Amino acid sequence: MPGQFQHTLDSLIDEISSLLVFGVSSVMLFGLPEHKDSIGSGASDDDGILQQASRRVKHEFGDDIVLFTDLCLDEFTDHGHCGVLDAHGKVDNDATLLRYQAAALAQARAGVDFVGPSGMMDGQVAAIRQALDGGGFIDTGILAYSAKYVSGLYGPFRDAVNVEIAGGGDRRAYQQDFTNRREAMVEVQLDIDQGADIVMVKPAVTYLDVISDIAQAVDIPVAAYHVSGEYAMVKAASERGWIDGTAVAIEQITAVKRAGADIILTYFASELAAVVDE
Ligand code: PBG
Repeated sequence: MPGQFQHTLDSLIDEISSLLVFGVSSVMLFGLPEHKDSIGSGASDDDGILQQASRRVKHEFGDDIVLFTDLCLDEFTDHGHCGVLDAHGKVDNDATLLRYQAAALAQARAGVDFVGPSGMMDGQVAAIRQALDGGGFIDTGILAYSAKYVSGLYGPFRDAVNVEIAGGGDRRAYQQDFTNRREAMVEVQLDIDQGADIVMVKPAVTYLDVISDIAQAVDIPVAAYHVSGEYAMVKAASERGWIDGTAVAIEQITAVKRAGADIILTYFASELAAVVDE
């Protein structure tokens, strides 16, 4: 996507330095390992790329940066699913929870402030909270991807992290059906009961109703993730001269805020921060 790059450990530090100049003080990291395997080993390896990057960021910036990490297996598995598979090739929910616990501990050891489980496995927040507390990481928070929909808008992200779901598969078994509005509230309540510190809706602009419902119902911060496809559509139309990309980006991100999001994850962060700064 235009304006988006896979970073090295060094370029990541430069990127965050420039974000800080514009007052963007929180980032979420995703890891892209050199080798993928069936259990996504890189996600829980202390020397995995995400853990190395997190340690580096915390070492350079300390508390000046609030560091979030995506906690999932799909970037690390050779089959591209968010969990480990059973003998029939289906995602094994409970075996996956053990992998998420190991990944959470590795991220916490690396100094991450908030882990962000994005795999939509049942019981993931409770399992991760238990592992973190057991490891003494009582201050490591959980940003739960609570209402994450099966969406056509994740395509550019999957390209960026070289994720292809084996056999042309999909994530319908674990992500939410976008025709269902009420299920989001059930998922959010479950995550809060299990110890989530922040709940998130994803994607953003096509789910403003859901963001609004949740923002009115809960008293913890609500995040919204303006995803890769949302960014890509604005960029592509803007490159063709069909819309004013910056104006539309501001309009969309403002709509997400107006719907009730306290925190917005967006690929527009640096671009909009620079505009706001002017
Ligand atoms: C899963 C994950 C995905 C995204 C964030 N975390 C991909 C997926 O669910 O297939 C998508 C983000 C985006 O499109 O910007 N690790």
